[in-house]
Amino acid sequence: MKKVFIKTYGCQMNERDSEAVAAMLRERGYGLAQSEHDADIILLNTCSVRDSAEQKALGKMGLLTHLKRGKPGLKLGFMGCMAQRLGPELLEKLPDVDLIVGTQKFHKIPDHLDHLAGNGHEPVVDVATEQGSEAAIRDHVAPGARPTAFVSIMQGCDMHCTFCIVPATRGPERSRSIGDILDEIRALAAEGVKEVTLLGQIVTSYGRDDIAIRDGKSAFVQLLEAVNAVPGIERIRFTSPHPQGFRDDLIGCYGRLEKLCEQVHLPVQSGSDRVLKAMKRPYSVAKYKRIVEKLRARVPGIALSTDIIVGFPDETEKEFQQTVALVREVAYDGVFLFKYSNRTGTPAATMDGQLPQAEIERRHAELHAVGDEIAGACNARLVGRTMQILVEGAPKTKKVEGRLFGRTRCNRIVFFPGNAPECFRGQLLDVLISRAKDYTLYGDPAILNL
Ligand code: 5AD
Repeated sequence: MKKVFIKTYGCQMNERDSEAVAAMLRERGYGLAQSEHDADIILLNTCSVRDSAEQKALGKMGLLTHLKRGKPGLKLGFMGCMAQRLGPELLEKLPDVDLIVGTQKFHKIPDHLDHLAGNGHEPVVDVATEQGSEAAIRDHVAPGARPTAFVSIMQGCDMHCTFCIVPATRGPERSRSIGDILDEIRALAAEGVKEVTLLGQIVTSYGRDDIAIRDGKSAFVQLLEAVNAVPGIERIRFTSPHPQGFRDDLIGCYGRLEKLCEQVHLPVQSGSDRVLKAMKRPYSVAKYKRIVEKLRARVPGIALSTDIIVGFPDETEKEFQQTVALVREVAYDGVFLFKYSNRTGTPAATMDGQLPQAEIERRHAELHAVGDEIAGACNARLVGRTMQILVEGAPKTKKVEGRLFGRTRCNRIVFFPGNAPECFRGQLLDVLISRAKDYTLYGDPAILNL
């Protein structure tokens, strides 16, 4: 049996795509290798959001082509966003690569590998568009082994933020049907999955062309209501929404849909109205803050996280400081900070005022420190509270041996003493938070009502 190893770069969407490809390959009779060393086929699932992510995958493939010289039967492939963006160009750089598969063709990978194992000696490049491909990411690897699952609800994005390569790599917005998504989630629930995270590049746009607004509720809210009604599912999360689509009908879901977790990842990108405009993000800082206020009024203590880009072209020190002030004011539980990366083909790539790398690094370091300080303070406030966690199992790192971990509804990891992951995995457990460190919490299973 030929064994495949998939290495994934980038976002949760990429993780989900890799998992679906692995499941399809297993269905086709391939084995899944534990490491690249015992693999007959190695696939790199790539990210294009920043240049550094592309360079990492290219460097990795360079090393793998050396490995292939000593192991001629080895097949190597690129899939996902960089494969889509560069296509056959990748073969000019790395002629030993056998397979290049874009973001609408993941489901064709089993066929292509069969072909390469047979008579196919020429590299295969498959980066065309394909109608209906958004519904092809539906297979899961052994869901029974895990209480959580990602579910892809849509592909692509129509927003065209001036910094962003995603519309070029993932294409226009295409949504799966509610029925199709529910079938997948019901099957996951039957396998023991308790928590689903709905994934899309812009989930607030879900179904907006296909599903009419009903009782003032967007298609995405209708989907959330339907998922909330699936027996066995206990928790619902989603990522990522856009502030523009985060309207009152969605805010009103918090507290109303009991399975919807008290956690929102709401990318703001900048704390300056001028920069937001240049980014083509159609909201003001004031409007963003109003969403935050409404969410907090509905659910006090709701956890908020965000994405921020520092060093967008022409961002002044004053504008950067407005972003720092916004981070302090919102007091995010977590900030995902990105150094602006120039992506060829995006409108921002040719804007005046590109900042020197050293300046981008400085702003990054400054805001990083602020983000960590604020998130640490948010974490510390949870000490002494009893919180429900969904136990996921034993952590991968040896450092925390003798511990198991789970996640709170507000998406924080909690370690607690324990040695038998199989007994606890998938359980909803109340823990008393005893200690906080950086982004993690430590707790003891609470004995309540004594
Ligand atoms: N440079 C830096 N960060 C970027 N992101 C998207 N494009 C770029 C870019 N060109 C960030 C945004 C987005 C996150 C997924 O990646 O903050 O929300």
